[in-house]
Amino acid sequence: VYGNMRNAAARMGERMYKGAILAPMVRIGTLPTRLLCLEEGADLVYTEEIIDHRLMDCQKFEHGKNGLVEFKLTAEDNPVLQTCALEKEKVILQLGTADPERAVKAAKLCEEHISGVDVNMGCPKDYSTKGGMGAAMLKTPDLAESILTALVKNLKIPVTCKIRCLKTVEKTVEFAKRMEKTGIAALAIHGRQKTERSRDPCRSPWIAQVAKSLSIPVLANGGSGEIKSREDIKKFQEKTGTAGVLVARAAMWNPSVFNKAGPRHVFEVVKRYCELCLKYDFALEIMKYNVLSMLRDLQDKDPRGLATKPALSSKEIAECWGVVVEDEEEPNAKKQKLEVENYPYVH
Ligand code: FNR
Repeated sequence: VYGNMRNAAARMGERMYKGAILAPMVRIGTLPTRLLCLEEGADLVYTEEIIDHRLMDCQKFEHGKNGLVEFKLTAEDNPVLQTCALEKEKVILQLGTADPERAVKAAKLCEEHISGVDVNMGCPKDYSTKGGMGAAMLKTPDLAESILTALVKNLKIPVTCKIRCLKTVEKTVEFAKRMEKTGIAALAIHGRQKTERSRDPCRSPWIAQVAKSLSIPVLANGGSGEIKSREDIKKFQEKTGTAGVLVARAAMWNPSVFNKAGPRHVFEVVKRYCELCLKYDFALEIMKYNVLSMLRDLQDKDPRGLATKPALSSKEIAECWGVVVEDEEEPNAKKQKLEVENYPYVH
C-alpha cells in the first residue's frame, strides 16, 4: 500500500541505500576522498554539506580532463562542488537548506551528474541552526516536510534526509514517519541528540526503533567509535537492524575502513589519496586537511607528517608520500589556493 505513494525515483533508489556508505563531512567528503572510498569498496558516498544558496547560482564547467564537472560562480572562482563521471552512479549531494525553492534550484542544477540528494537535518552548529537549517529542522517538521516534498516532486533522482535523535525515542520515530510520508527513498539517523557530542554513546536502540517503524531503508550513523573495519560496519548495521551504515569519522581516519579484505595501513592510503588529488588538481588547503586528518597524532611523529604541514603545493605533499610527480607546468597558483572563507562550514 505504502509503495503506491512513492514515485519511481524513490522505488528505484531504495536499492541504492544499503551497505557501507561514506557519511557527509565538510571538507572531508570532497571529490578525492569520495573516489578513494569508492575504490576501497564503499557502496555509496555523500558529498560534504553544501548550502543551497552557494550552489544555486553556480554555473557548470565540464572539463575534458578526467570527466571533471565543476559548479562555481565564474570560471575564476573556487568550485562549490566538484564531481566526475566515475562517481556519478554512487554520489549523493547533501544540501544544507531551509527553503524548498532554493533547495530545488540547487539540486536541479546538478541532478544529471549525481545519484541522489540528501537534506541535512542534523547539523547542531549555530551557523546552520540560526538559518533554520540542520538540526533546527527537527523543530520545524512542516518546513522539513515541504522541502522534501518539493524535492521529491521536482527531481528524477531519489531524495533522502539525515536526522538526529529528538528528545525521546517516540518523538524521533514520529518525526521519521512524517518524513517517510513525503516519498523519500531512505532516511539516515545519527544516534545522538542535538546537544550530544561524539564522546557520548550512540543511541543504537533508538536507531533500531526507527528502522523497525519505517518501511523505507534506514541508515544508521554514529558508530565510528566502534568501527575499525568493514566487519565492524556490518556489526553496527546488524545491531541497529538497518539497511546500511553511514560511516563518518572512521572513514576520515582511514578510508580503507570500507575494504572487504580489511583496512590497509594509513600511509598507503594517504599515498593513493595524494595521487587522486593531483589527478583532479585538487585544492592544496583541503588536501592538507584531509591528509592530516588521516594521520591524526602521526602528523607530529612521522617525518612525512612533519613535512606535510608546511608544504606549499599539492605536489610537495604528494612527494612527501612517495608519489612520483611528472614534471609539467606549474599549476595555476590561484586554482591551488582555496580561500578558507569559502569553507565557513567547519565542524
Ligand atoms: C561531520 N558531520 C556532518 N554531518 C552532516 O550531515 N553534514 C556534514 O557536512 C557533516 N560534516 C562533518 C564534518 C566532520 C569533520 C565530522 C567529523 C562530522 C557529522 C557526521 O556525518 C556524522 O553524523 C557524525 O560524525 C557521527 O558519525 P560517526 O563519526 O560516528 O560515523
